Amino acid sequence: MKAWIFDLDGVVVDTAKYHYLAWRKLAAELGFEFGEEHNERLKGVSRMRSLEIMLEVGNLTVSPEEKQELADRKNGYYLEMVSGIDSSEILPGIPEFIQRIKAKGGKIALGSASKSGRMILEKLGLAEQFDVIVDGNLVQKAKPDPQVFLEAAKLLKVPCEDCVVIEDAKAGVEAALAGHMHCVGVGDVEMLGAADLVVSDTTKLLKAVFPWEK
Ligand code: BG6
Ligand code: MG
Repeated sequence: MKAWIFDLDGVVVDTAKYHYLAWRKLAAELGFEFGEEHNERLKGVSRMRSLEIMLEVGNLTVSPEEKQELADRKNGYYLEMVSGIDSSEILPGIPEFIQRIKAKGGKIALGSASKSGRMILEKLGLAEQFDVIVDGNLVQKAKPDPQVFLEAAKLLKVPCEDCVVIEDAKAGVEAALAGHMHCVGVGDVEMLGAADLVVSDTTKLLKAVFPWEK
């Protein structure tokens, strides 16, 4: 495989929990509870679409202006939570996995729905490891649309069939397959079973993907 396209939240770094905490805080302010079971539906999904799902859960209808204010408010909470983030929050096994791919001549890209994607990679000290960074600022269509991954493959100049996407979200696995790419799921096999390979967590990636190596 010539190129490896990484999702960010929940794959490279443990920021999925901050997105969830920020949505939960917003929901509490709006007067309803937002549990982990609902949060699964937000993984990999853009900020506005996430808000729409959250409002659906709370059974609330708001004006477009209020919607914008709520999305901005959630993002404010999220940015506050990640303001002090550093390399200690990179998920275990990821640096070694990236090093191995690079040592084999593979290319690395980010394919994230988050508008804070590049900023987070910079805070983690990982930005230089990525040949291409595609985040929520560069795409209009949210996963499960494959746009974010297709853009990464285009910028890398690698055909889709030579790309592998690493994803923790169902919408992300669907996006990779819709883009005719290979996909490794990280998490629950029940949720991510459509991927070519599923590992339970990031520490298992290296061995599962390169089983013949020490
Ligand atoms: C995805 C996360 O990577 O980015 C979602 O899985 C998040 O939870 C989405 O809502 C958009 O992120 P942001 O930072 O642009 O609000
Ligand atoms: Mg993710």
